[in-house]
Amino acid sequence: MSSLEVLITEEEIRTRVAELGEQIKADYGEEPILLVGVLKGSYPFLADLTRHLDTNIEVDFVQTSSYGGRKSSSGIVQIRKDLDISIEGRHVLIVEDILDSGLTLMHLRELLGTRKPLSLKVVTLLRKPEAARHGAHAEYVGFDIPDKFVVGYGLDYAERYRNLPYVAVLHQ
Ligand code: IMP
Ligand code: MG
Repeated sequence: MSSLEVLITEEEIRTRVAELGEQIKADYGEEPILLVGVLKGSYPFLADLTRHLDTNIEVDFVQTSSYGGRKSSSGIVQIRKDLDISIEGRHVLIVEDILDSGLTLMHLRELLGTRKPLSLKVVTLLRKPEAARHGAHAEYVGFDIPDKFVVGYGLDYAERYRNLPYVAVLHQ
């Protein structure tokens, strides 16, 4: 029997996402931003975050290879769905659900960096301790969490639990 232990409540997420939105707005000012959501896990975070930003934004998505129902990374990151919009000359903000090993992010930064964006930054809702050890950097971080497997608010285990309004540790 698996069970869920709430780690970050709906209220805490709402408050923090609003704060991140304010911070991003203050940093970019009037400049247009292209938000690049990393599918699938970033969808609720991206949707909520954009509602705190001005109208001067565009949204696109990339999808990288997933863990395929497993709980740990294979260490191999591949692009499964590329961007539709050209990022050349644009301020790009990558929107991630979680930095675990940080491999996905490091790969994405490298790839998108070759396409001549005006700037390239990252906002992640969650960050595990591993990410810092691997040198994966995010300019904006919602919450630092312990090295446990979490689900909810976009995060899945074998495609389940994405629709939970909170973040919970999955015990199995
Ligand atoms: P990384 O490349 O190891 O940083 O892993 C990034 C991706 O792995 C995230 O975008 C998630 O899709 C997935 N992932 C990592 N940790 C968790 C977790 O605790 N729960 C659910 N998905 C996770
Ligand atoms: Mg996932």
